[in-house]
Amino acid sequence: MENFTFYSPTKFAFGKDAENECGALVKEFKGTKALLHYGGGSVIKSGLLDRVKKSLDGQGIPYVELGGVQPNPRDGLVYEGIELCRKEGVDFIIGVGGGSAIDSAKAIALGVPYDGDFWDFFCDKAEAKTAIPTATVLTIAAAGSEGSPNSVITKEEGMVKRGAGSDLIRPVFSILNPALTQTLPPYQTACGATDIMAHVFERYITNTKNVECTDRLCEAILITMINETPKALKNPDDYDARANIMWAGMVAHNNIVGVGREHDWNSHGIEHELSGLYDVAHGAGLAVVMPAWMTYVVDQDVMRFAQSAVRVWGCQMDFQNPKKTALEGIAAFKCFLSSIGMPVTFAELGAKEEDIPVLASNHPVGDGKTGGFVALSKRDIENIYRLAL
Ligand code: NZQ
Ligand code: ZN
Repeated sequence: MENFTFYSPTKFAFGKDAENECGALVKEFKGTKALLHYGGGSVIKSGLLDRVKKSLDGQGIPYVELGGVQPNPRDGLVYEGIELCRKEGVDFIIGVGGGSAIDSAKAIALGVPYDGDFWDFFCDKAEAKTAIPTATVLTIAAAGSEGSPNSVITKEEGMVKRGAGSDLIRPVFSILNPALTQTLPPYQTACGATDIMAHVFERYITNTKNVECTDRLCEAILITMINETPKALKNPDDYDARANIMWAGMVAHNNIVGVGREHDWNSHGIEHELSGLYDVAHGAGLAVVMPAWMTYVVDQDVMRFAQSAVRVWGCQMDFQNPKKTALEGIAAFKCFLSSIGMPVTFAELGAKEEDIPVLASNHPVGDGKTGGFVALSKRDIENIYRLAL
């Protein structure tokens, strides 16, 4: 196991009606004027936004609102949010919704106190020195942004999707009420489940040896997702399935299962070009990319893939031919993704073969190599897109 520092200071309020604690939590974290930042309207329709406002009113905390965050959030609304916060003297930002609303909230939080262009943080031109405190009220178990130090934004010009990371944008608190996810369409539930599993696999498939504790934690999250996702799809109101998925989504990405080991993250990088260009759901893009990436890199450590095949997917170990077991595990993953309604090919996603050179050129790898498990070149990335055809 490698040395590590683990820092995850977010306070989580989890359970039924937890959103009613929002006002008290803002007060606890010394917010005096809040921005409520949300998406395309699901939080209005469900009545959640009204409950959050009531909770702020109850504590005498004034707020302004900015809705309209699109899935794959855009830079345009971030600039608007930064201006609004400066004009209104906002000192606390609450993302109400999914990863998109939360990531947009985090980007605004970075931009408000910064003299330059907030995009500098997303293209490695600057490192954040300060940010406005951010909090979340989560409505979909997926991105893990409720406990992560990351924000992912798409620049409208060129439709490139890039991430920024800083502990300054780890939410100070996150409200997780699983009942809020019961209104999700099945497709979004499945996209979220795929993203959660991908966050685990990006950490699990590693070159680091002797990481049994985090291996077992990763396997627990994967098995939880395999068992609970079909239950939530079959009965959207299954609170306990929703609750297990919601906590798994947080644990999968606040890095408690990823400490002390090298990560990969190539599937995410390769996927971000798909959701950037085609504006598809991140989880759906991952369902197409991740099995192809696994197949491409399996020879790097056949036994690691065989381990997950046996421990996660229940495959029988073939000691004469461990690669057979490894490939069976990858096939089981792909089959599971199909069974929950995810696309697993370019055609099912609506992506086009002729765009592969553009997708690979948009990828920030350039002429170098990227990724922790197997360092990939632009050529490798093209090959992975082709494997996903
Ligand atoms: O916009 P509204 O009306 O709220 O509708 C949303 C949206 O259409 C809807 N939705 C959310 N909760 C709902 C609901 N509909 C009904 N009932 C509910 N309870 O679902 C749609 C998708 O929402 P979105 O926020 O886009 O989903 P998700 O949480 O999957 O976020 C995806 C974004 O997160 C980024 C992705 O790249 C993508 O841009 N990621 C962020 C990460 C991070 N910050 O750490 C890590 C991830 O790997 C990921 O890259
Ligand atoms: Zn993800």
